[in-house]
Amino acid sequence: MTILVTGGAGYIGSHTCVELLAAGYDIVVVDNLRNSDMAAVEGVKKISGKNFPFYQVDMRDADAMDDIFAKHNIGCIIHFAGHKAVGESVAIPAEYYDNNINATLGLCKAMKKHGVKNIVFSSSATVYRSDNTVPWVEEAVLGAANPYGWTKFMCEQILRDCVAAEGWSAVLLRYFNPVGAHPSGIIGENPQGIPNNLMPFIAQTAKGIREKLQIFGNDYDTPDGTGVRDYIHVVDLAIGHVKSIDYCLKHSGCEAFNLGSGQGISVLELVKTFEAENNVPVPYEFAPRRAGDLGAYYADPSKAKRLLGFATQKSLADMCKDTWRYQEGNNG
Ligand code: NAD
Ligand code: UFG
Repeated sequence: MTILVTGGAGYIGSHTCVELLAAGYDIVVVDNLRNSDMAAVEGVKKISGKNFPFYQVDMRDADAMDDIFAKHNIGCIIHFAGHKAVGESVAIPAEYYDNNINATLGLCKAMKKHGVKNIVFSSSATVYRSDNTVPWVEEAVLGAANPYGWTKFMCEQILRDCVAAEGWSAVLLRYFNPVGAHPSGIIGENPQGIPNNLMPFIAQTAKGIREKLQIFGNDYDTPDGTGVRDYIHVVDLAIGHVKSIDYCLKHSGCEAFNLGSGQGISVLELVKTFEAENNVPVPYEFAPRRAGDLGAYYADPSKAKRLLGFATQKSLADMCKDTWRYQEGNNG
């Protein structure tokens, strides 16, 4: 069985390629390298000891995608490719709608043309409206607060409609907060410029690349006043994709799943764990709340456990240690 992995040179895609190869799948990777580089592809080959075809192609190039579908007997797709920065999506919304929606639409047309019926899609907890009560369940009210979130919301709807029309099988995976790196230290998250997300900012501060972490808000209605999120180790998340392929191939219809640990962790808890596990200080200061942030949300992961047989295995300590190992080895 060959899996087409779009965005497979990216952070979550590269870790998923490792787990797919370990599970015995063949893979074909497509990525335009807009937010990644060949080091991740080479890293996957090094970890797995296996080779696979890689195409540097923009998914909006219909002819190039057509050639890839014609050349390989694709049984299932995992569609990671897309832009993902919330702030950037507010600044350049048309580019976000163009890239994320047209990549998905092109994929649906190619699936229909080449008779591919199975797809696993990278969605996000950002498709839940912020006023749902925690923990968030898959039936919670959907909505979005920014253009990035709307692209995920719309892609989910496009897939729901195509599944209904074509009799396909689609699994929509709503990730909570992916962090960590492969335990080998060979692949991990390598954001360009100043990181927006907490864990890479902590790692760069510990390394001395950033002077101080700003903790956005210490007056939320949470145990220590700082923001609470559901962090999931990227290797657990990758394994969740392998289990989703099994499910996708055995079912038809469109099903959404939360992928999270179900545990809320505060910013301060994460900072303290990182310091303790890695024996390194992370200087920080409290700063005003970040616009658009929520105080606390986390997943109800029980549907994924029940239907996919998926539950996270890795601890907060693993997330911190693996992030630091990658930071130490790869970013000067
Ligand atoms: P990433 O940026 O590391 O990976 C995405 C990859 O897609 C990149 O390698 C990029 O070059 C590629 N890409 C983008 N547009 C493309 C196009 N038109 N054609 C070909 N390749 C293209 O991001 P990630 O963190 O690995 O996220 C993967 C997916 O998961 C994304 O769809 C993202 O929205 C979603 N997601 C991520 C998070 C997170 O916190 N990391 C949370 C929820 C959902
Ligand atoms: N935070 C800080 N300082 C920082 C960065 C973040 O205190 O420098 C705090 C935030 O205020 C929040 C927590 O750390 O309380 C996590 O923030 P992230 O930016 O790491 O993650 P978010 O939960 O804001 O957003 C993530 C993804 C989005 C996705 C969203 C929904 O980055 O793409 O989850 O699941 F839309």
